[in-house]
Amino acid sequence: MKPFPTFEWGSELPKLKGERLVLRHLKASDAGDLFAIFGDPEVIRYWSSPAQKTQTESLELINEAHKHFVARTMFEWGAVLRETDRLIGTFTLLNVDIAHRRAEVGYALNQEFWGGGYATEGLELLIGFAFGPMNLHRLEADVHPDNEGSFRLLERQGFVREGYLRERWFHLGRIEDGVFLGLLRPDWIKLKEV
Ligand SMILES: CC(C)(COP(=O)(O)OP(=O)(O)OC[C@H]1O[C@@H](n2cnc3c(N)ncnc32)[C@H](O)[C@@H]1OP(=O)(O)O)[C@@H](O)C(=O)NCCC(=O)NCCS
Repeated sequence: MKPFPTFEWGSELPKLKGERLVLRHLKASDAGDLFAIFGDPEVIRYWSSPAQKTQTESLELINEAHKHFVARTMFEWGAVLRETDRLIGTFTLLNVDIAHRRAEVGYALNQEFWGGGYATEGLELLIGFAFGPMNLHRLEADVHPDNEGSFRLLERQGFVREGYLRERWFHLGRIEDGVFLGLLRPDWIKLKEV
């Protein structure tokens, strides 16, 4: 098989612009807005880590995201409102495997903005970048079996449930299962053509 062109990252994540949202590099000044998301027990209900207790933890998350960006191991965008630059969510490509042209998607939105189509807009930007400039072939997601909002979001984009993974996550003192989903580039392109 011929080698495929890989994306040339600059010093920051590229800005991905949608109708109401922009996905951009996280800044230290986003810590307060991030805390409003990851400090909320409702947001991390089906997440993989506990709720943040202080804004310092949010700042640490930003620093970790920058380190991962430099190492090209994970790409975490902040989703901000176009009008005000207020951060209302994050969209992430993790477990990136360039050789096999795949990555996993992750996302979280401030609860205040649930049910408004913002996650749909952000995920579409993320997928468009992953299958476009980044040239990936397959995206994956691992979702708690009860996370209905997340299933609806993914399935609207054509993700398909591929497997049930038993007792995969220790979260908030419980052992939880995961549902694994996948999306292939040709299928997404076909879906967006109609
Ligand atoms: C998962 C999560 C991002 C989904 O957010 P969401 O707000 O439900 O998703 P969307 O922003 O795409 O909104 C979709 C809903 O808004 C409605 N909507 C309103 N205006 C809309 C618009 N302009 N465009 C699209 N949908 C719109 C849709 O009808 C849809 O409703 P439905 O889910 O009842 O069918 C959110 O619940 C979250 O942050 N959860 C916590 C973190 C988490 O669990 N992450 C996933 C780990 S796997």
